[in-house]
Amino acid sequence: MIQETTTIAPAPISKTNSPVIEIKELYKSFGKNEVLKGVTFSVNKGENLVVLGKSGSGKSITIKCLVGLVVADEGEINVFGTDITKIDIAELNEIRVRIGFLFQNAALYDSMSVRENLGFTLKRHAKDLSAEELENQIKDVLESVGLAEAIDKMPSELSGGMRKRIGLARTLILKPEIILYDEPTTGLDTITSREISELLLEIQKKHKTSSIIITHDMACAKHTADRLVILKDGVIHTEGTYEELEKSDDEWVRSFFI
Ligand SMILES: Nc1ncnc2c1ncn2[C@@H]1O[C@H](COP(=O)(O)OP(=O)(O)O)[C@@H](O)[C@H]1O
Ligand SMILES: [Mg+2]
Repeated sequence: MIQETTTIAPAPISKTNSPVIEIKELYKSFGKNEVLKGVTFSVNKGENLVVLGKSGSGKSITIKCLVGLVVADEGEINVFGTDITKIDIAELNEIRVRIGFLFQNAALYDSMSVRENLGFTLKRHAKDLSAEELENQIKDVLESVGLAEAIDKMPSELSGGMRKRIGLARTLILKPEIILYDEPTTGLDTITSREISELLLEIQKKHKTSSIIITHDMACAKHTADRLVILKDGVIHTEGTYEELEKSDDEWVRSFFI
């Protein structure tokens, strides 16, 4: 996991037009496979930006570049005003700790209870916490994801939706200012997906986070997006609100909304 840590001043409240992420002309190829060919977009403070695109269009690669898990070939990636392509690993780590990443198939440790899973993550990043403080933070974050009662459960006792919530709790416990969600509702049934989408909105409100949400789930997109971008052929093909894109003149864009 890429994220972390402890005492960060709360971000200002409202959605403003000051970007926390600005990606400019991003290029990434794997051999002859030119995946990103000049991707440009930004995420404003407090905003949920949904990224749509067909499978293999480079959505996951884009957010991996954003946290330095994948090194871009060319382009600028400004996070909190710093171009992370131009800094050393120590500086990169300082920025990374402010970013939470919910991976597509984020797994919990099967042999640990929910409390231990969350405690393990927190202790790695906040070594000086007292046992009491640790317990309080675990309880708080479980409240946030609506699973206070699951603290003593083992992962095998949890449903898919509950595991997803605990995965999210593990991301949240490090108090990220930005959260990157890669397909947060994939593999969940319609009702559970809806609950997770609702939770994403609650997190945005309660924790004042800014987010990129990659999804195929149009119900999730509709529910959570302040704005959407669509990746096609290595560039951002379209950008707008759900209502705007749903009524697009471009048939290909509309095809996402059927
Ligand atoms: N580590 C890698 N090595 C080679 N090719 C990769 C690697 N990671 C991703 N790709 C390729 O990059 C393209 C975009 O992948 P990805 O960003 O995962 O797509 P998606 O939009 O489905 O998330 C795909 O063609 C994939 O095969
Ligand atoms: Mg992907």
